[in-house]
This record gives sequence, structure tokens and C-alpha cells, in this order.
Amino acid sequence: METQPSILIVDDEPDNFDVIETLLADEGYQLHYAPNGQNALDRLETFQPDVILLDVMMPGISGIEVCQTIKTDPRWQTIPIVMVTALNTKEDLARCMAVGASDFISKPVNSTELRARVRSMLKIKQQYDDLQALLKLREDMVNMIVHDLRNPLASILLSTDILRFPGLTAENQQKKVNQIAIAGHQLQALIDSLLMMAKLESGKMVLECSKTSLFAPCLASVQNFEAIAAQKKVKLTTRLAQPDGMINVDPAIFRRILDNLLSNAIKFSPPDNEVLLLANYLEPGGAKIQVVDSGPGVREEFKQGIFEKYEVGTLMKGVSQIGLGLAFCKMAIEAHGGTISVTDNRPKGSIFSISLPSA
Ligand SMILES: Nc1ncnc2c1ncn2[C@@H]1O[C@H](COP(=O)(O)OP(=O)(O)OP(=O)(O)O)[C@@H](O)[C@H]1O
Ligand SMILES: [Mg+2]
Repeated sequence: METQPSILIVDDEPDNFDVIETLLADEGYQLHYAPNGQNALDRLETFQPDVILLDVMMPGISGIEVCQTIKTDPRWQTIPIVMVTALNTKEDLARCMAVGASDFISKPVNSTELRARVRSMLKIKQQYDDLQALLKLREDMVNMIVHDLRNPLASILLSTDILRFPGLTAENQQKKVNQIAIAGHQLQALIDSLLMMAKLESGKMVLECSKTSLFAPCLASVQNFEAIAAQKKVKLTTRLAQPDGMINVDPAIFRRILDNLLSNAIKFSPPDNEVLLLANYLEPGGAKIQVVDSGPGVREEFKQGIFEKYEVGTLMKGVSQIGLGLAFCKMAIEAHGGTISVTDNRPKGSIFSISLPSA
């Protein structure tokens, strides 16, 4: 129900449709009309309304049968049906409910009642749709994460197998050990991101801030990525504007923020490119940190979105894109009172900038 909710009105009397149309005129709905049961069922093949208002007594297929057909078809089951009926006995109403109608309204239709019932049905439908979307997202996410955990794990297992091979040269041994280390880091980063995000979101993450040098975590993070960068032939450069100074951050979380930005810059850069980490201390306790790359850059329309969870912007071939890293960075940096943003590098690439406010 992104834009205007749509309502299908099924009634053999066009006059009745006109009445309902008038009564719902100002509610901002898209109204569709079907003059009989068969027509209604045919229309459902190509279009899914958010609510159906269904006349009970119609020539041909009765409202009860239409309702039954809709409610037994998995494609349409979840559309709420409000029976519109001149019948008033408890038995009639019970019959409507028995075939799966969500609600009913008696003829002649009262305008306040009609609007209230339609609104309430739309609300339920919306909640249902949102829940479905969430479940789908969760399922996709679990699949993605399992997939992304499996890749580095497979690489570790393969490398350990090769290491057991007796005739392996020292050089090849070293190569395999490096691969194991890289895959291990990937696994660790992924698991850490998931855990930290969950903690941040539940409000359970308490920052344990302490005074730390600005340069120390920058250097540690760059060192952490040297092997991965070398493997991709990406040149990692650090430019730290002297002098260093003390910032007040949670050291572990701050490191993870830097790691995420470097990981992205290296991951999305083509080989033989340079990734730059710039850090500037700003008296008294503020800092500006930038990670600059010459990769594909971030398209204008994704510059906000990529900081949301599971938003991955432009899909890139051969790179794992889960969409957690920047969401974590944003949450974490904001928890420190800072900001994060992305701008374009010239002639190409992106610049991710973190600002830590002065204490
Ligand atoms: N340096 C970059 N250059 C180009 N695109 C980038 C860069 N950094 C991030 N992006 C885009 O933003 C998206 C979101 O990044 P984010 O770090 O949140 O997730 P991810 O890298 O896809 O997965 P992970 O959860 O493993 O970090 C990426 O998928 C990518 O499309
Ligand atoms: Mg990332």
C-alpha cells in the first residue's frame, strides 16, 4: 500500500457503486468497480486491491461464493473482504464469516460506518503487509549472512587442506597462511558487526570511552588491512596531520568504524589503486578522519541510503555486499556525537568523512 490504497467494489447495481464512491470520495482511495462475481475474480488475476467490498446477493456467482473462492486461493487469501449485505439475520452474517469475510456492513450503507470499517481493514492489511516484508527481509538477510559466512570458511578449510600437503614450498605455505588470516578476519568482522549492531539497536551498547591517541587506532587499522590490500594490489597510504592528540572514544568501536571504512575502500577499489586514510586532530579533542579511494564511487541517489541497514547501493560483481558496515558506522559514530558522510573524490572514487566533535 505504498501510495493510494486501492479498493475493489463488487456490486451488480452500478448505482450502489456510485453511492460508495460518493461516500469514500475524500478518503484518497483508488476505487475499482466490478459489476459481478466473475468479473471480480478475473480482475484479481492482474491486480491486487487492499480491500474488497463485496455485495452478497448478485446474479451469477453469489458474494458468498466469490468470497470463498478468494479465501481459498493463496494469492488472494490475505486481502480483507467486507461483505456489503441487505441481509440482516445472524445466520446470514455467520455465513459470511464462515467463508472468510473479515467484516460486514449492512445496506443501506451508512457513511460514517463505511469509512470507519474500510479504514480499520486497511490498517490491518498494512500491518500484515509490513510484517510480511519484515519476514522476507529477515529471511533474505539470514540467507545472505549464511552465504557470506560460508565463503571465508570454505577458504580457510581449503587452505588448511593444502597446508597438510607434504611437498608444499615455504613460499606457498606462507601464501596459504595469509589466506587463512584474511578469511579469518572477514569472519570476525562479519560476526562483530552483527553483534554490535544488535547491541546498538537494543540500546544495550554502553560506550566505554577513554582518552586515546587519534593516530594509534588509525595506524593499527591500516596495519590490519595491509595483507588484504597487498593481495588486491591496492596501495594503502596513511596521511596523519601532525600533531597527534587525544580523542575520547570507545577504542574497540572506533577501531571497527575505521576497519569498516578501509574494508569498503579496498573491497570496492579495482586493483592497482590507492586508498588513503587521512586524520586531522582538531583542538581540543575533535577529529576529522577521511578514507579516500578511486573506486567506482557512490551514486548520488545512494549517498543517504547506504548508511541504512542492508542497503547496498549499486550491486558490484564479485564483491560481498551485506550492507551492515556503514549502518554500523553511522550508529556508532552518532553514539559518539559525531557524523559520517560520503562525497565524491575527483576524478573518481569516494571520500568517507567522519567528524568527531571537539570535547
Ligand atoms: N568505498 C566505497 N566505494 C564505493 N561504494 C561503496 C564504498 N563503500 C560503500 N559503498 C557502497 O555502500 C554499500 C553499503 O556499504 P556497507 O559497508 O554498509 O555494506 P557492504 O560493504 O556491502 O557489506 P558489509 O556489511 O560487509 O560491510 C556497499 O554495498 C557499496 O555499494
Ligand atoms: Mg562494508
